[in-house]
Amino acid sequence: MPAPFLEIKELHKDFGGLTATNSVSFDMGRQEMVGLIGPNGAGKTTLVRLINGILKPDRGKVRFKGKEITGKKAYDIVNLGIASTFQNMRPFRRLPIIANVMVSCLSPRAMKRGEWVKKVEAKAMDALEFAGISDMALEKASTLSQGDLKRLEVARAVATDPELLILDEPFGGLSPAETELMAKSVARLHKGGRFGRLHSEGPAMIIIEHKLQQLMKIVDRIIVLNFGTIIADGTPQQVVEIPEVIEAYLGEGGV
Ligand SMILES: Nc1ncnc2c1ncn2[C@@H]1O[C@H](COP(=O)(O)OP(=O)(O)O)[C@@H](O)[C@H]1O
Ligand SMILES: [Mg+2]
Repeated sequence: MPAPFLEIKELHKDFGGLTATNSVSFDMGRQEMVGLIGPNGAGKTTLVRLINGILKPDRGKVRFKGKEITGKKAYDIVNLGIASTFQNMRPFRRLPIIANVMVSCLSPRAMKRGEWVKKVEAKAMDALEFAGISDMALEKASTLSQGDLKRLEVARAVATDPELLILDEPFGGLSPAETELMAKSVARLHKGGRFGRLHSEGPAMIIIEHKLQQLMKIVDRIIVLNFGTIIADGTPQQVVEIPEVIEAYLGEGGV
């Protein structure tokens, strides 16, 4: 049997006396688009940081395409094909938007893909177009609204040509109309195809989101975390009917 695309095995992280990730295990396939939900403080961000190398686990393993990547440096993990966007965005504020994305295009992974090297600027524009902010390419990143910063984050991640894309609250701070647009772009990217000069095989995705209605429309599987533990894993329709999930959310004012 081939190794799972992404394999998480008993991954564990404590912060002092607090267990943020409690021996979490799950597998995910190359074609999947997985939603990761749970109340505030459930450990969603910590879990994806253990996968993308921002944090090192106390115990447990992460394997990507059959190869162990546990504890590897974040930039090595990007080069293996896992890109992320972050809740707290840190663009180069004094640089134009386009330069922020060109930096991603210059990663060793992107450079290896031949064509990228010749047309870094054009590719960066395609990533911005994909994210819907190409008209602002020459403005400084410091001028962007919260919603447009989210799009810049997505453009930067997409420009590294990931096989697995991890999005931490991509709809956060977006208006309902912007959320709709972002959800559509993300779903389109997952399907794959051609975006200007950008070819995408369609990355697998893990999407952390609080806006469940919009999330449920685009993912095929939802994993629910509470107190660092997986309490449900199934189709969106299945998980919203599980009493434990409803209870975890009612504590926060309902789904
Ligand atoms: N760097 C850190 N140091 C100490 N505690 C942390 C740190 N990061 C997260 N935590 C704690 O771990 C728990 C899980 O946080 P987090 O993963 O950010 O949850 P979520 O993304 O689901 O809201 C929370 O109680 C949070 O306060
Ligand atoms: Mg979080």
